Amino acid sequence: MKKFPDNFWWGAATSGPQSEGRFNKQHANVFDYWYEIEPEAFYNHVGPDTASNFYNSYKEDIRLMKEIGLNSVRTSIQWTRLIDEFETASLNEDGVRFYNDVIDEFILQGITPMIALHHFDLPVELYNKYGGWESKHVTDLFAKFAGRCFELFGDRVKHWFTFNEPMVIVDGQYLYQFHYPKIVNGKKAVQVAYNINLASAKAIKVFRMMGLGEKGAKIGIILNLTPSYPSSTSEEDIKAGKIADLWRNQMFLDTAVHGAFPSELVKLLKKDKVIWESTPEEEKIIKDNTIDILGVNFYHPSRVKAPDISPDSLQDWMPDRYYDDYDMPGRRMNVDKGWEIFPKALYDIALNIRDNYQNIEWFVAENGMGVSREERFLNDEGVIEDDYRINFIKEHLEWLHKGIEEGSNCRGYHLWTPIDCWSWSNAYRNRYGFISNNIHTQVKTIKKSGYWFKKVAEQNALPDDRNGGV
Ligand code: BG6
Repeated sequence: MKKFPDNFWWGAATSGPQSEGRFNKQHANVFDYWYEIEPEAFYNHVGPDTASNFYNSYKEDIRLMKEIGLNSVRTSIQWTRLIDEFETASLNEDGVRFYNDVIDEFILQGITPMIALHHFDLPVELYNKYGGWESKHVTDLFAKFAGRCFELFGDRVKHWFTFNEPMVIVDGQYLYQFHYPKIVNGKKAVQVAYNINLASAKAIKVFRMMGLGEKGAKIGIILNLTPSYPSSTSEEDIKAGKIADLWRNQMFLDTAVHGAFPSELVKLLKKDKVIWESTPEEEKIIKDNTIDILGVNFYHPSRVKAPDISPDSLQDWMPDRYYDDYDMPGRRMNVDKGWEIFPKALYDIALNIRDNYQNIEWFVAENGMGVSREERFLNDEGVIEDDYRINFIKEHLEWLHKGIEEGSNCRGYHLWTPIDCWSWSNAYRNRYGFISNNIHTQVKTIKKSGYWFKKVAEQNALPDDRNGGV
């Protein structure tokens, strides 16, 4: 048996915009709006209107989460649901009622609720008025919204996260066009990365000023870490790997944990004349408001090589002028999603946090395998036999366990996601849940992986296969 530390968090993660549905929401976020104007950009034209109906069925859904043994679950509070007017952060009554009910229900079922404050769901109004994360004013509005959440729910929620995967906002909205408004502008991307780091620090500042830490609560950020492996040991490929790592991982990780941007990155952005606008006061806020806890989303590694064309070629500035993505021959793939499967990277992440990030308290905040057409695997009892998912989780847990044994301070493992949920422009193409969801009837059924995970959680251990497994 591979035993995990006592009180390990065995859980799963979702988000407000992906599970609740748009019911009773007064405002649209950027995805709600994008779906209104371009439904064909979404897989099978399925939008966020119903999602997995959590707004209406949260009691039943949480009961199912309990049934598969989850002891902790992360979701997010939608800014567009809780707040009526963004400048003053006035409250929406139904939003307050809903999140109070959800949090109470989690606690009643013995599940620790963990709450993120932003999961790609910027109110579209703030984009139209101010340019969204391009604006420093929006960082202040976010801190106000965060303050409201702490006031309302801080008595019961003890694990807070400012942002989920901020790097995806930078990539999706400002570089690679997979999130509305699909801008391609390297200079803006740099400013947005800076502003989100600032917004996160400002929210942490409010949390500290309100004394939530003294009442036993912790605050952090959730980062998608993609360790960068160079394609060879040549000097050029190693350099490409280092720069990819600076941009993709360290830009948020160093800032969150050490309170400062990596100096090599700052040097590079200055040389390229795309450095962000900042003030000493803002830098001090970032310095003084580092995180207590880190959530790591890990799906796939990043493999890079030296770029094919010189970074000095005449072209608009993009971070990937310094590296090209590299497809390693013979790699294992989740073909449905197009991501490489490389569980050892979780061990490398664990040791990196141990050695370079103060061995800070952390947990796997998302890991998972998105598979399409899972009805292929239905058995006679109507249960999806997702052995591929069980193996995927098992392999990742094995490497994680090794990292913990070697001293990494990891507190838990959350799968993406408890119940199949809506996933941005991919909508319901890839399913990730322990529990399936028929999106036409909203009937939810536990998959084989859900029953398997329950046993792992109960035993707080990964059974050794040689002894029969679970
Ligand atoms: C994670 C995000 O990166 O990936 C989730 O935090 C998202 O919000 C998940 O749903 C899966 O993405 P996709 O596009 O494969 O459904």
